[in-house]
Amino acid sequence: MEALKDVRILDMTHVQAGPTCSQLLAWMGADVIKFEPPQGDATRGQLRDVPNADSLYFTMLNSNKRAITVNMKTPEGKEIFVALLKKCDIIMENFGPGVLDRFGFTWEKIHEINPRIVMGSIKGFGSSGPYSDFKAYENVAQAMGGAMSTTGTPEGVPFVTGAQIGDSGTGLHLAIGLLAALHQRDRTGLGQYVEVAMMDAVMNLCRVKWRDHQRLAHGGLSEYSRPTEGLPATPRAGNDSGGGQLGNAIKCKPGGVDDYIYVVVQEAVWDALAKRIGPDVGQSNLAEDPRFAKIADRRKNQGDMWKYIEQFAANYTKREFMAILNPIDVPCGPIMSTADLANDEHVRGREMYVELDHPQRGKWFNVGMPIKLSASPAVVKRSPTLGEHTDEILREVLGMSEDDITAKKAAGAFSMPPKKK
Ligand SMILES: CC(C)(COP(=O)(O)OP(=O)(O)OC[C@H]1O[C@@H](n2cnc3c(N)ncnc32)[C@H](O)[C@@H]1OP(=O)(O)O)[C@@H](O)C(=O)NCCC(=O)NCCS
Repeated sequence: MEALKDVRILDMTHVQAGPTCSQLLAWMGADVIKFEPPQGDATRGQLRDVPNADSLYFTMLNSNKRAITVNMKTPEGKEIFVALLKKCDIIMENFGPGVLDRFGFTWEKIHEINPRIVMGSIKGFGSSGPYSDFKAYENVAQAMGGAMSTTGTPEGVPFVTGAQIGDSGTGLHLAIGLLAALHQRDRTGLGQYVEVAMMDAVMNLCRVKWRDHQRLAHGGLSEYSRPTEGLPATPRAGNDSGGGQLGNAIKCKPGGVDDYIYVVVQEAVWDALAKRIGPDVGQSNLAEDPRFAKIADRRKNQGDMWKYIEQFAANYTKREFMAILNPIDVPCGPIMSTADLANDEHVRGREMYVELDHPQRGKWFNVGMPIKLSASPAVVKRSPTLGEHTDEILREVLGMSEDDITAKKAAGAFSMPPKKK
């Protein structure tokens, strides 16, 4: 029994931010109808690795969905859209500002057509304020939400993070909003409009940087490895820990690009850690060394502390060092490359890298469902090909007859307009 079994979603989302949300809802059992223009979501053809096959960009974000193509620039296409609106619980989109309004479907209009439907919208900057007319992509959101100015080394250029916090992070926020609105709808019978701006979502994910921004008014940030007194804004922190405990990325054997382990020198573990590494780095009394006695001393002298830890780590691979640190309770994590993860027993065991088949591309892998529901575990299925379920949806969901379908097809409801000569 799937958690969202009775929920049907009209999914007009494209690229990453919206599809990541509707894919999650599909994994929880919702019937997600991917509603695409006749040429399809642009990502079907972007960064293609296999000729004439849907790209991994598309397949990895659109699994477990059904697909229909509808040309919203024809009156017949709009009729299909309205008919589907009446049969769905959620409509979601992440078009550029004003696209749905230009089709004639504002939230007010959609609410009038189906008062029970919940509408989810992702915009770069939301529907109000001076930035509301602008489009946005992942890195634009990372730049404007405060992530880039706080990522990288203090003296270097601002960096984007590999985690797609602007797109997938925003999709997660939308999923939470949609489920809350659905819950309220079940109580009141009325849907509502749920909007998430990518910039807002990134700010939310950078919450601790706003903690540090305000702390600066009262002095320096003692956990940073460089001086921060007097700075007007939260600086880039390199690999310094963002919390109350000290942390850093430590280089290991044999010194390749990903041969690092992140080590958190939690207050409670210093004694055991110092006793374990001290003798090997010529510091047999490290645990009693006054430079590192209290956390405040270790903060002040963290450069020396990291030097000793790195000297010790030079004799071990990141996995070997992990095996030394775990038994003495030191929180740590080897820097995992995608190759490390793809072959990791833990990852495979948790179904976080799942092999699937696809009619156009053959075997491929998707990252699995990170939210584990005990009574309704997700079964990851392949993404649909372009328009794969058009007829099925028209018949099953809308109850259309074969004649009706043929007439709508002839009127161009599901296809591109013929090219002008
Ligand atoms: C991502 C983004 C920048 C892409 O911009 P874009 O490729 O120019 O696409 P837009 O969303 O602005 O426009 C979509 C177009 O497809 C058309 N379209 C969409 N669905 C259609 C359908 N079923 N039938 C016919 N046309 C359709 C729209 O009419 C629009 O064309 P128009 O500009 O002539 O009205 C933009 O959609 C955006 O800012 N989205 C909100 C923020 C976001 O989610 N960004 C992250 C994406 S990962």
